[in-house]
Amino acid sequence: MSTATLTIEVPPPTFQTSIQHDVEAAINALMASLPNPADLSADQRRGIIARYTAVLEGNFIYWMTGAFLAVKTEPAREIILDNLHEEVRDSHPHMMRKFAMAAHALPTDADATAVYHDLTNMRLFIGRLSSVRIVLTMAFFEGFIQKFMAYLADLAKRQGSTEMEYTDVHGVCDIAHTDGLFRALKAETAADPTSDDGDQFEGVNLLRTLIQTIVHPAGAEKTLAKSAAN
Ligand SMILES: [Fe+2]
Repeated sequence: MSTATLTIEVPPPTFQTSIQHDVEAAINALMASLPNPADLSADQRRGIIARYTAVLEGNFIYWMTGAFLAVKTEPAREIILDNLHEEVRDSHPHMMRKFAMAAHALPTDADATAVYHDLTNMRLFIGRLSSVRIVLTMAFFEGFIQKFMAYLADLAKRQGSTEMEYTDVHGVCDIAHTDGLFRALKAETAADPTSDDGDQFEGVNLLRTLIQTIVHPAGAEKTLAKSAAN
């Protein structure tokens, strides 16, 4: 009796699956780099919440609007419009502000200054309206936010807060948002096959640097001191 050899053909990863894998790996590495909240002082915990608020409160809808202006396909427009609708209808900036106020962590001038340089780089990147790069960046952002919520809630609880609407909502809704943005990415990439030329992770890298500055502002202070000296 002969035994047939069973060969399972594993298809090579598509652009979409490999990029999704890379985004997930980048999010996991960023999460693993976060300091243990128990090792932080109250002032360090306040600073992380305040700088995160300084970035998210006034920029998330702005950047998602940039994604809407940049995309060229109807499926991507619909997905991003749904996301914007929810942000505005439920006033996520207000949720963010309530969260920071309850944790006694409203952003100060120093918090805004600490993120200024990296935030400006992100704003200029969004202004270039490169559809695939922006959608990829926002997929990374939503995926990160969803995983970051338990950490942010932990910081706020340690600051004596019980106001968790922002972290409760975003720990759940951003799972669907991330999936939606990967579908939007697929549509945009199919519409513009040359879009994977060059550095697709330009925006992801800029945003990752900004998040690192939110968590570890010392690096940003050095950058600011250096640019002031020049
Ligand atoms: Fe939101």
